[in-house]
Amino acid sequence: MLSSHSQDVVAHYTVRHGGRDGLFGDQPFANYGYWTRDDLSLQQAAEALTELVATSAGLRPGDAVLDVGTGYGAGAVVYARRCRPASIVGIDITPVRIEEGLNYVAGHGLSDVITLQLGSATALAFADARFDKVVSVECAFHFDTRVDFLREAARVLKPGGTLALTDIIPRSGIDPATYMRGEKTLGSGICLDNLDNAYHADVYARHLREAGFEAVRIESIVDWTRLPFAQALDAMGARDGGARGAGWQRTAARLRQLIDLGEDYVLVVARRAR
Ligand SMILES: C[S@@+](CC[C@H](N)C(=O)[O-])C[C@H]1O[C@@H](n2cnc3c(N)ncnc32)[C@H](O)[C@@H]1O
Repeated sequence: MLSSHSQDVVAHYTVRHGGRDGLFGDQPFANYGYWTRDDLSLQQAAEALTELVATSAGLRPGDAVLDVGTGYGAGAVVYARRCRPASIVGIDITPVRIEEGLNYVAGHGLSDVITLQLGSATALAFADARFDKVVSVECAFHFDTRVDFLREAARVLKPGGTLALTDIIPRSGIDPATYMRGEKTLGSGICLDNLDNAYHADVYARHLREAGFEAVRIESIVDWTRLPFAQALDAMGARDGGARGAGWQRTAARLRQLIDLGEDYVLVVARRAR
């Protein structure tokens, strides 16, 4: 039985199905991207974010990989093509994403490498020490709770295995409660709707160590993720014009307000202690 917070998350991603996600061309990503250059498309930036996570996790041939919050499996396809792992299991809590994702993976002829299944980050249906790598792009702020996920990630990772993810937290120095009030007004209202997930990087690092991780690294990448994504939406708004263009520009303005309010976008990498 899902918590009411997780039910809200599922409703949110079910409604958005086929909405903004269509922005990513023929790759069904749903993330802000990693903008190594200004002239990337949303699709290229989303792929670059996935590659950043793959590199940070040290994905390599032969790995058993778990992709948590895989969405439609777009990232899993990138991991399979670029890094040749032995297997990738992608889980997501939103049924329509898994249903569509199965078609997407099959369409790429990768069903023998990638398994997509419905599941929750906080109750992973896998044996202890099953995976070499656990990755997750832009999801953990939703989990109820992130700490429960970190404990589960440590359990299913082999000793010495790596966790790499991108996530959203309040910037240090910003009062989490104030941030959350603003997020509720400006944001989707579900990102950090759970006070248990609204803490700074130092507390995040402590939770990782308490869950059994070491060599913890948390790095802000907001200047290469949400900010340029907002700029790209602005440019699209100017190009498209009309009601659609105005919609992009409103979304861009809201994203900037969230950053001004104290939102940070971080890359998190840690090793499961041996
Ligand atoms: C912003 S999308 C990112 C999707 C994908 N990683 C990507 O980069 O395209 C967040 C995803 O997290 C999933 N999600 C949220 N809470 C979850 C949970 N508790 N367990 C598993 N997946 C979850 C949502 O259904 C959604 O597909």
